[in-house]
Amino acid sequence: MTTATDDRIWIFDTTLRDGEQALRASLSKKQKIQLAEAISRLGVDVMELGFPASSPGDFDAVQAIANSIKGPVMCGLARAVASDIHACGEALKAAERKRIHTFIASSPLHLQYKLRKTLAEATAQAVASIQLARNYTDDVEFSCEDAGRTPIDDLCYMVEHAISAGATTINIPDTVGYTVPTEFAHIISQLKNKVPNIDQARISVHCHNDLGLAVANSLAAIAAGARQIEGTVNGIGERAGNCALEEIAMILATRADSFNYRTQINAKEIYRTSQLVSHICNMPIQPNKAIVGSNAFAHSSGIHQDGVLKAQNTYEIITPESIGMRANQFNLTSRSGKHVIKHRLTELGYRDQDYDLQQLYASYIKLADKKGQVFDYDLEALVFEQSLQEQD
Ligand code: KIV
Ligand code: ZN
Repeated sequence: MTTATDDRIWIFDTTLRDGEQALRASLSKKQKIQLAEAISRLGVDVMELGFPASSPGDFDAVQAIANSIKGPVMCGLARAVASDIHACGEALKAAERKRIHTFIASSPLHLQYKLRKTLAEATAQAVASIQLARNYTDDVEFSCEDAGRTPIDDLCYMVEHAISAGATTINIPDTVGYTVPTEFAHIISQLKNKVPNIDQARISVHCHNDLGLAVANSLAAIAAGARQIEGTVNGIGERAGNCALEEIAMILATRADSFNYRTQINAKEIYRTSQLVSHICNMPIQPNKAIVGSNAFAHSSGIHQDGVLKAQNTYEIITPESIGMRANQFNLTSRSGKHVIKHRLTELGYRDQDYDLQQLYASYIKLADKKGQVFDYDLEALVFEQSLQEQD
């Protein structure tokens, strides 16, 4: 299913499942539908809508979204137990394109303490669940939970059986965000080399961000052969979160020279979707967050501001417009030069003859030294003050 020349990366969004399960307050069905509409417009390939067996409310929300949204593959999560698979199959019944995502742990730690099962027993349970899921759909994803801490031969064993049972996507989660990029890439390469039927499935990765490496690990996995990336908008999710999908999409788009892969993400929807997720989930975005933080396109130093005015790409590798954000922002501080002040006043509708730049700049610097950041209304007050002085 995946070949070395296959440059198309599938984006699997789990904002409504892994992202939502980490929120302090669950979302209402209406909020989930609103988010699902936005995420679908973003152009993701697969949307994980929830975990139908977990509660009647989740079942209902998954069903409502699967019934109303067209476009991406609609996916539901199910433990590798029959009742979960049935709940998932039922909730997704009306979807045009549907996927059941089932999982069981593969690491010695999880097998011994959580499941109290041997690897062979867990694998048999996975096989039975995949076969059951295939009665509902041909599109079945299987995840080896805690794959990042699973000995490679154990992982290969479980993956090979899962594919033979009918899984069409094999997901390798770094459930606790423990691996580092070289190591994670090596896991994917070894699966490709050691599992005889691996080409019958798409390899997916699902990285958590406990060490801040979710995006880096996902990129390393792509280079090693993964062709589906799982993550969430703004990277929300359990603990330190999941791989931030907007970062993956923009890295692949911006650095096509290094990574010759493409996604179907409609980049112009990124900013709007990110704002909506932050707002509905009540999860503020850190100002310096890559791509969507409020400072991601804000320039503070005078040298940078001057450079961007001369040629945007001097200090900007992505334009704010490309992610659907309003034009770039300059933070007006004591480090800003006259050039930027004049530019901002022109944007605000002032003509050169409306003020004396030298004088205005002297008052501006005094104010900026006191205030830190000068806002548009401060600047307008300075112009107004100057015009009053001229009239005296
Ligand atoms: O992090 C994880 O292992 C998961 C699985 C259910 C895919 O979220
Ligand atoms: Zn997860």
